[in-house]
Amino acid sequence: MDEKILPRHIGIIMDGNGRWAKKRLLPRTAGHVQGAKAFRKCLRHCIDLGIECVTFYAFSTENWKRPKEEVNAIMKLFSDYLDEGLDMEEDDVVMRFIGDTAPLDDALREKIGRITADTAGNHGTVCNIAVNYGGRDDILHAVKGLIKAGSDPDTLTEESISGNLYTAGLPDVDLIIRPSGEQRISNFLIWQAAYAEYVFMDVLWPDFSEKDLDGAIEEYSRRNRRFGGI
Ligand code: FPP
Repeated sequence: MDEKILPRHIGIIMDGNGRWAKKRLLPRTAGHVQGAKAFRKCLRHCIDLGIECVTFYAFSTENWKRPKEEVNAIMKLFSDYLDEGLDMEEDDVVMRFIGDTAPLDDALREKIGRITADTAGNHGTVCNIAVNYGGRDDILHAVKGLIKAGSDPDTLTEESISGNLYTAGLPDVDLIIRPSGEQRISNFLIWQAAYAEYVFMDVLWPDFSEKDLDGAIEEYSRRNRRFGGI
């Protein structure tokens, strides 16, 4: 992939787990289990490609409306992943969770806090997992933070808002990939995606492979990115 223009920050909407399971007459939770495997594979490939930052949309502010059993199964997948010990040291990955983690179970929050602290000093790929995340909520949270800190509205800038989002300090997202055939943003990184390229793919998330990621990056590098210029 050397001659390709690599995106600095990739956002991925992990969609299609339910349909993947339904096609196989399995419970929806089986789709999420397979989706978590696809997540691991995709993160691994981002690390190998040297991607600076990748954000996975794992649970939106709207996903609480799902049956309790499904919500619990997804939370358990996060928890199991954090229990694995991970290879973060070797891979030098910085793990972060973006979104409002306050409503999560104490034990899960504790694990999130631990991995965040343990990997904060690493220097490799930054992996954001968006949990209880919504783009509008992200902006609202940033603006509330600025007001609470006594910001003067006349000196407020786009940079000051960017600097108070959950993704503060990270580059804006360059490429957003949505598998599963849906062509929506679903409240994902809406501020950060002002100049992003979108790649929509027909594959369901649990089947998403390294080749699919390579294909999306190739599509990205083919597009002429002009940032409003000529
Ligand atoms: C959307 O597909 C998927 C989710 C709401 C859950 C995503 C979670 C995972 C893939 C697990 C991630 C695990 C780790 C460790 C980060 P959907 O259920 O809405 O699919 P559908 O549209 O086909 O019903």
